[in-house]
Amino acid sequence: MAVRGSFSSRAGFILAAAGSAVGLGNIWKFPFEVGLGGGAAFVVMYLGFAFILCFPVMVTEIAIGRKTGKNPIGAFGELGHGRWSFVGKIGTFSGMLILSYYNVIAGWALGYLVEMLMGNFDVGNNFGAYTTNVVKVVCYTVVFMTVTSYVVGRGIAGGIEKVAKILMPTLIIMIVSLAAYAFTLPYAFEGLKFYLVPEFDEINAATVGGALRQAFFSLSLGMGTMIAYGSYLSKKENIVTASALVTLTDVMIAFIAGLMIFPFVAFNNGGDMTNLVSGPGLLFVNLPNAFASMGPTLGVIVGAFFFLLIAFAALTSTVSLLEVPVCYVVDELKVVRSKAVWYVSGVIYLIGIPSLIGFGISDFFSNSIVLPASTDWLSFAASLADTLLLFGGFCIVTFAAYVWKKENLVAELKNGFENYEETFASKFLNIAISYICPALLALLFVLVVLSHFFGISLI
Ligand code: TRP
Repeated sequence: MAVRGSFSSRAGFILAAAGSAVGLGNIWKFPFEVGLGGGAAFVVMYLGFAFILCFPVMVTEIAIGRKTGKNPIGAFGELGHGRWSFVGKIGTFSGMLILSYYNVIAGWALGYLVEMLMGNFDVGNNFGAYTTNVVKVVCYTVVFMTVTSYVVGRGIAGGIEKVAKILMPTLIIMIVSLAAYAFTLPYAFEGLKFYLVPEFDEINAATVGGALRQAFFSLSLGMGTMIAYGSYLSKKENIVTASALVTLTDVMIAFIAGLMIFPFVAFNNGGDMTNLVSGPGLLFVNLPNAFASMGPTLGVIVGAFFFLLIAFAALTSTVSLLEVPVCYVVDELKVVRSKAVWYVSGVIYLIGIPSLIGFGISDFFSNSIVLPASTDWLSFAASLADTLLLFGGFCIVTFAAYVWKKENLVAELKNGFENYEETFASKFLNIAISYICPALLALLFVLVVLSHFFGISLI
């Protein structure tokens, strides 16, 4: 019988869950989404959605995990009498898909860290060439995946929790210091103005939907990461306050990431924020140039610090993504963790090959997709995963409210929070889980399918 393990403390759980939430989504994607539309108006919507939509889904996922003490497929199988395990299956698949391309981007960050240490700031101008350098891209991705597998192989308390306890506080110190330093740079004010002054005329259905999706992804919801983590949580802990703390940490770090990145970008562009490199290149193109202007010594220090920060943030997320399929193999197929990890990593690595070579290396995987939202495999995998997460999220809340039933959910939440039912939180969560979350997620799912796969935008 394989041993499951558990988190050793409340702080350990919160740091691990926050570590899962805080990742490339916060530091790489959030700023470029803000840049694409709305500035502060986007930020405010993101904050609102995090609490109204995401926090209730997180509470539900953790409760399902803790109630059953199982991986997502097993958990849905148990509570839904076998009929609902498909939700866990789709979730586990989406997680593997996310990890397959997430690793590639994390590998770029690791590679950039090395380039910064060598003082090679020119990579910023050669981002395209960098992503087509087969040897580098493959090596760094393999290194990143191997570190992830090693951590997950060490188990919950001894691996995932331990790493989160070290990396999360370090990450917070690093990001705050970098943001503080960024404030002192010339044109910092222009950058902050771009970030913090709301552009209401840029708000449209697409930016609202973008903020919703971004918040959902950033909080690691919709595929069962939080179910898996919840399954290792003690009955003594209060799920509602833990989820609130995780949500707060995630939005705070995304917000601070913006405070750090936009002054850097403004510094690089001489204060001109009109022609931003938006999209994936925002960070990989602009920032090395900004570091170069800081001079050789300071540039190396700040640049290396910056990409190390991104690698740390990515690692605490990749371990959470890998944990879901590993936990399934350990629970259901009764394989020991130390072996399960390598089997699963191998499969993920194979699924990731198209994304790995789809950013210029292979012409086929870079250009063969003919969808409105994507031509290359990495963006295709990302859009597909994004869509599946929304579907998964919809199924999770609907299942909890109407199949598993709210009384059972409430009973689980009362463990570690005795007077839960007398609180305002319980009233809000009740309405959110029964109506707001299913409705918003279903609507968003339909809109995203139409726009990603059929090029139709209804609004
Ligand atoms: N939330 C992480 C980020 O912002 C990524 C992530 C980890 C994730 N686990 C997840 C996203 C599960 C969706 C589902 O980068």
